Amino acid sequence: MMKHLFDQSIDRANTHSVRWDKYGPGVIPLWVADMDFRSPECVMKALHSRVDHGIYGYTYASEELKENIAQYVQRTYHWTIQPDWISFLPSLVTGLHLSVRMLTHAGDHVLIPGPAYHHFKDAVVGAGRDYSTYEVQARGDGLCISLEELESLVKPNTRLLMVCNPHNPGGTVFTRTELELLAQFAKQHQLIICSDEIHADLILDEGVQHHPIGSISQAIQEYSFSLMSLNKTFNFPGLGLAWIICPNPKIRAGLLKDMHTLIPNPNLLAYEVTQAAIQEGGSWHQALIKYLRSNRDYVSQRINAMPGLSMAHLQATYLAWIDASQCHWENPFNTILDAGVAVSPGSQFGNQQFFRLNFGTQRQLLKTALDRIEIACLK
Ligand SMILES: Cc1ncc(COP(=O)(O)O)c(C=O)c1O
Repeated sequence: MMKHLFDQSIDRANTHSVRWDKYGPGVIPLWVADMDFRSPECVMKALHSRVDHGIYGYTYASEELKENIAQYVQRTYHWTIQPDWISFLPSLVTGLHLSVRMLTHAGDHVLIPGPAYHHFKDAVVGAGRDYSTYEVQARGDGLCISLEELESLVKPNTRLLMVCNPHNPGGTVFTRTELELLAQFAKQHQLIICSDEIHADLILDEGVQHHPIGSISQAIQEYSFSLMSLNKTFNFPGLGLAWIICPNPKIRAGLLKDMHTLIPNPNLLAYEVTQAAIQEGGSWHQALIKYLRSNRDYVSQRINAMPGLSMAHLQATYLAWIDASQCHWENPFNTILDAGVAVSPGSQFGNQQFFRLNFGTQRQLLKTALDRIEIACLK
């Protein structure tokens, strides 16, 4: 029987993979967020054809790519945008740091989510800004962000509200109502919202819709912008391309003021793969979501059956956020590493009693990794 496309194991040795080379051959690496799947055929074809040209000079993003992105945003999220609201960056992390450095000044205060992808904190600390962390819980019942908490943290000098939607870790997808409330809060306190939406196309729950921040209302477009990329979805983060969608021209100009000094243009191949993925990657993407959903269900069922471990329902991403507090391990990351699996330590996101597990891999390898974690739990 032919193996499922995503079941095929692909040797990543000798590719200088950050994920695979860090811990060596005895350890299954389920940490940094890339997947063990080949990008779709259309992406590989686009690369081959551009590489075969042989000249790799300075290259700009075509108007066609911007228009394609605008159409993609319209058909995927039902948000009508203008192509000239789009600006390109070599990575989404660049966008997080740029947002803090360009839109706030020394002495300003920023609200960031936690536990969260570490670059939110790195961006404010790196820029020397004062900040407070608001809690994002994996969703049980009700709101996963507390507006009372936000109200208690906001200061007269708060300028920026950073959001990660869908959230990493935890995979929460904010509802329209939640975003409306966030928008009201931001308006009331005259904050700009910077929304990291890199995981927007990795929604695993059927019937759940991603809402880019600017799609919530016309008014919110005046004081918010989205950071997006297909790096995660189509598994080409090593090529690197992200974009800002910023409807307000003043905020856009502020963000881009010093571009092309410290920040290079994206790699020309990154334009090609993004274009190909948008135009022809649809069926691969659907198959990926199905495979990841089944991995998610498998991880959830196995983890929740292990003594001391638990995870809340994960709506999106391939990054499970697992609570190990009931294992009473001194350091969950070390215990799991000793068992032969490298996960991301919870401390990286702001909670040491958790760990994050990347299930963007073949089911068979995932099974072996979970067997190893289970043995550690039973010790
Ligand atoms: C929320 C979030 N933002 C940004 C990134 C990184 O994006 P890039 O590789 O484009 O810088 C990640 C990667 O894991 C992420 O989870």
